[in-house]
Amino acid sequence: MAIPAQSDGTTLTKDPAPGEVLLKVTGLQKHFPIKKGLLQRQVGAVHAVDGLDFEVRAGETLGVVGESGCGKSTMGRLITRLLEPTGGKVEFEGKDITHLGVGGMRPLRRDVQMIFQDPYSSLNPRHTIGTIIGAPFKLQGVEPEGGIKKEVQRLLSVVGLNPEHYNRYPHEFSGGQRQRIGIARALALNPKLVVADEPVSALDVSIQAQVVNLLDDLQQELGLTYVIIAHDLSVVRHVSDRIAVMYLGKIVELADRDLLYKTPMHPYTKALMSAVPIPDPARKSAKSERILLKGDVPSPISPPSGCRFHTRCWKATEICKTTEPPLLELRPGQQVACHHPENFEDQAPQDTVLLSDAKEAAELVSDEALAESAATSAAVAAEMGVSGAGDTETAESAEPETATEPAESETASESTKADAGSESAESETASESTKAEAGSESAEAEAGSESAESETASESTKAEAGSESAEAEAGSESAEPETASESTKAEAASESAEADAASESTEPEAAEAESTEAEAAESEPPAKEK
Ligand SMILES: Nc1ncnc2c1ncn2[C@@H]1O[C@H](COP(=O)(O)OP(=O)(O)OP(=O)(O)O)[C@@H](O)[C@H]1O
Ligand code: SF4
Ligand SMILES: [Mg+2]
Repeated sequence: MAIPAQSDGTTLTKDPAPGEVLLKVTGLQKHFPIKKGLLQRQVGAVHAVDGLDFEVRAGETLGVVGESGCGKSTMGRLITRLLEPTGGKVEFEGKDITHLGVGGMRPLRRDVQMIFQDPYSSLNPRHTIGTIIGAPFKLQGVEPEGGIKKEVQRLLSVVGLNPEHYNRYPHEFSGGQRQRIGIARALALNPKLVVADEPVSALDVSIQAQVVNLLDDLQQELGLTYVIIAHDLSVVRHVSDRIAVMYLGKIVELADRDLLYKTPMHPYTKALMSAVPIPDPARKSAKSERILLKGDVPSPISPPSGCRFHTRCWKATEICKTTEPPLLELRPGQQVACHHPENFEDQAPQDTVLLSDAKEAAELVSDEALAESAATSAAVAAEMGVSGAGDTETAESAEPETATEPAESETASESTKADAGSESAESETASESTKAEAGSESAEAEAGSESAESETASESTKAEAGSESAEAEAGSESAEPETASESTKAEAASESAEADAASESTEPEAAEAESTEAEAAESEPPAKEK
């Protein structure tokens, strides 16, 4: 796609410095407190992100994958400082921004932007797209050369939309077009780093490819640096230079894209890879490569001891239960946290006694299931039409839903394999609940600036957001995995919720999330936790 030349030289120019470390994260943690009772005593914490170390280099795309609830979005919000970290350090361009105050954060808001998952709920339905894309200029007090309108129209054409549609409302656009609007808004202030949280997962497969290609084109043209979060390996594969695989709040493998796909070293990565259906049904070797993880991800409230994956790992031994493996660079360009890595000569002898629960959690998948998912995958691959397909041993393209199918198909064979399907079911549920709340969520990324014109609207939004907070409260009283989905709802609701709504909540979690997002929308950093 040809990207129109920049009109004024005020935005969308980059100072590349490719390869330089742009973002450095050390020991990053986010523990959401679980409070209970009248006194709101803390009774535990959701260990959403539990010690991440990684770097993002200028001009690269870092893909982040993992099952639902493993902390991907929380990580994205921490590095964009929409959330205050519990521990660790975030450095941007060599500067410690972990606990920056309001003033210090203001320039960062221009440099780091986020694209949200759901284009239906992240755009205010009552504002024209001109207002939506122009909001960052107003919030930051930036006057582009030629005026905001002209710049917004230029941005519209950059993302492939008609500049004449400046005065239209979000409901007049399709999902893919809305996501383009979200991308235009993110690009408005000429950011250095764009964090895209599942940017295409709410879109049809055919539209996904278009949006992925647009992101790719923009990166080439503007020298952008991306962190792209996805649960769909096909998306991450085709856009990433390096990929981080997360499991229960930790990075278990971080490697160059090709290394990761050709020789995954962490058993969890291998399982994720093999859960991606193989496009060619004729491939006989598919049977031996296919691993489906069984069961849900354990609760992040009390993660398993030692290696967090040991309850689902078919290679687990006693040491895995007791000792946490550090993330080590076992090969140039490939960091792994595992005592018995795959594709590595120093594996533990395979006669080591396996933990019985992990052993039971595994099974082979039937040929029928494989053939079925492969056919689906071939269709997806054709739709994606992304270059590079077919250049490795592993599968190319994934339709998340297909992963759930083999669950019923049992073979008698004894386990060395497990079932990864639960992920897609969970994330579907999450996105459905998000959609259900879409009406109320849309209230405010751009809130601060134009609230005067929609008073009635904000009243109703307040009421709705208030009820979301109540839901979140109910969720947080239970120290069970349900907490996760409820609070995710609260988070989704707060994605664009108004600051006013927070005061109606009696639940500190929700209040934190809402005020955080509202502050973000107003270009301010989140309040520190008490
Ligand atoms: N504001 C919050 N309050 C309490 N818990 C939260 C909050 N936000 C997230 N969590 C919990 O932290 C964990 C990680 O959530 P997160 O949204 O980061 O996962 P994810 O990997 O993005 O999942 P998905 O793929 O479903 O989007 C989950 O257990 C979630 O319930
Ligand atoms: S072999 Fe052990 S350390 Fe490696 S992933 Fe499995 S349980 Fe974890
Ligand atoms: Mg998420």
